[in-house]
Amino acid sequence: MTKYQEIKNNLELEPKTWLITGVAGFIGSNLLEQLLSLGQKIIGLDNFATGHQHNLDEVQSLVSSEQWENFTFIKGDIRNFDDCQKAVSGVDYILHQAALGSVPRSIADPILTNSANITGFVNMLTAAKEEQVSTFVYAASSSTYGDHPALPKVEENIGKPLSPYAVTKYVNELYAHVFNKTYGLNATGLRYFNVFGKRQDPDGAYAAVIPKWTAAMINNQDLYINGDGETSRDFCFVENAVQANILAATADCAGKNQVYNVALGDRTSLSTLFDSLKVALKENGLNYDKSAIHQDFRGGDVLHSQADISKAKDLLGFEPEFKIQKGIDKAMPWYINFMKK
Ligand SMILES: NC(=O)c1ccc[n+]([C@@H]2O[C@H](COP(=O)([O-])OP(=O)(O)OC[C@H]3O[C@@H](n4cnc5c(N)ncnc54)[C@H](O)[C@@H]3O)[C@@H](O)[C@H]2O)c1
Repeated sequence: MTKYQEIKNNLELEPKTWLITGVAGFIGSNLLEQLLSLGQKIIGLDNFATGHQHNLDEVQSLVSSEQWENFTFIKGDIRNFDDCQKAVSGVDYILHQAALGSVPRSIADPILTNSANITGFVNMLTAAKEEQVSTFVYAASSSTYGDHPALPKVEENIGKPLSPYAVTKYVNELYAHVFNKTYGLNATGLRYFNVFGKRQDPDGAYAAVIPKWTAAMINNQDLYINGDGETSRDFCFVENAVQANILAATADCAGKNQVYNVALGDRTSLSTLFDSLKVALKENGLNYDKSAIHQDFRGGDVLHSQADISKAKDLLGFEPEFKIQKGIDKAMPWYINFMKK
């Protein structure tokens, strides 16, 4: 039996209370779905800055009514300390996902990104330490590797940040470390690498590449590749990220207070991704015959990204179940259905 399965079994036998911030967002709502289905009690906090009520409605439709009754939603803002204090009351574990994602958004409005990602983060840490929660797991980011050229990325070797967003995610790690040393708060960072899957928002200027391209293909619209197509990423299906969160929250002493890469440990170029999405679309009875249009490389982005995930494997027992194609195959029907609505 895998470590993950063992922990899920234990949680079902002895349910815990979890706070998920950013619960109406992409990763937050996937965490909600998995934890409710394990019979856990969940408090969710979100201000709907980029999250949606329809994500919560969808989770409600996927779990039983008894499981849904274990969910309490607080509409609130992590920039408001009172909201954070209210949300942490009585929780065992915190999975802190709330933040403003997107490198271009942070370049367009660094003050806004800073307020949610740093002020909000310190508010959450402070509320967590006052409540003496068992473990605070937070969404860090592969953008923290910045301009460090080495591949694959190993947790200790980071470069200089390339965007305001990357600064905020690195500052999170520094604050988490200091809160551990100063106040004894257990705080574990998960450096996500390009997470994708159902409920990732395809709309808006700051959409991530997989939902943006998938939506363009389904609607037969033009699709743009920044650069020559050789830019590569370690795309991580959301269920792998959910696994990492649950393992990190319940980790033993050796696994706590660390920062981990959360990815697959593979590298896929944008050209290959384009082809994989077309194949998955075809398997669902739809065709996309247009060629991708190449445009300039985007400022603030790194050229290549690939994680070394051995630390998460060794200390947490992380075993990502979904390779990229399996994840795309699982996500595609959801996107086709979502676009019909
Ligand atoms: N998706 C990825 O590939 C990826 C990669 C690296 C890091 N991350 C990080 O993972 C976390 C979740 O990302 P996601 O992809 O699910 O994004 P998302 O935008 O779908 O979810 C973020 C959620 O946080 C909420 N939120 C934002 N500001 C808030 C505030 N001030 N108060 C309360 N709620 C607020 C939003 O409304 C949204 O529901 C973020 O911290 C993000 O930076 C994501």
